[in-house]
Amino acid sequence: MAYDTIIVDSRDGVGLITLNRPKALNALSSTLIAEVSKALDGFEADEKIGAIVITGSEKAFAAGADIKEMSSLSYMDAYLGDFITPWDRVAQCRKPVIAAVAGYALGGGCELAMMCDFILAADTAKFGQPEITLGVMPGAGGSQRLTRFVGKSKAMEMCLTGRMMDAEEAERSGLVSRIIPAEDLIDEAMKTAKKIADFSLPIVMMTKESVNRSYETTLKEGLLFERRLFHSMFATDDQKEGMAAFVEKRTAQFSNK
Ligand code: HXC
Repeated sequence: MAYDTIIVDSRDGVGLITLNRPKALNALSSTLIAEVSKALDGFEADEKIGAIVITGSEKAFAAGADIKEMSSLSYMDAYLGDFITPWDRVAQCRKPVIAAVAGYALGGGCELAMMCDFILAADTAKFGQPEITLGVMPGAGGSQRLTRFVGKSKAMEMCLTGRMMDAEEAERSGLVSRIIPAEDLIDEAMKTAKKIADFSLPIVMMTKESVNRSYETTLKEGLLFERRLFHSMFATDDQKEGMAAFVEKRTAQFSNK
């Protein structure tokens, strides 16, 4: 499959999507979002893939939605064309997706990273929601997801002023899970994804579903959801294998059954 705006690769059970519009700092055009969706469809359908990494370039993960493409949209273009809804594909991916962010992750770029399951940040990463400077506001989840990640005060300040956060502040405030030296970012992201891909895929997917449920329901309902999934795991071969391997002091060989 040939793509114009992304590079798609896979190794060791990990699918890698590299955003590739270097002249536009990976601005997220509708073509790019459609190609990311297509690549995700492929990885979801491929039983050899157990985890996915989305990354950009050294200078930019993505500097936002494509302002040049967006600038002349009318209200009806946006409404009838259901502008932004195709981006949801990333958040709906059932397999784990890691964002490996170096350089700018601004506007839609920050929102795309937050749609992933966790963010690994290079020490060069810069996050921000600068839409206010363009006369708009975040439209792909920034006002909602950033607030859940970093709390109201910081999210409000970032959305209202357009201020960027560096990697250290992003880690301190819970936006990113870890900071990695820029030169090691991809290797470390691929290593982390491979670690996940080596586990039982159905168990990984249920774990992802359960953590995500905590954002969408009450504690009581979330705990019940977790308990039911946990019970169901005792019907899998992988639970038997994982626990037997521990007892027998050997490495588990998961079969995704
Ligand atoms: C289209 C973009 C772009 C963008 C950069 N470029 N960001 N094109 N959309 N979001 C283009 C520039 O026009 C320029 O093209 C080239 O990339 C290099 O950018 P420079 O500005 O020359 O680079 P630099 O001086 O290093 O500044 C980097 C930067 C700046 C600070 C990241 O580019 C910037 O502020 N970009 C916009 C960031 C932003 O506002 N993002 C939010 C977008 S709105 P030429 O042709 O001149 O070389 C959004 C809404 C999401 O994301 C809502 C959901 C869809």
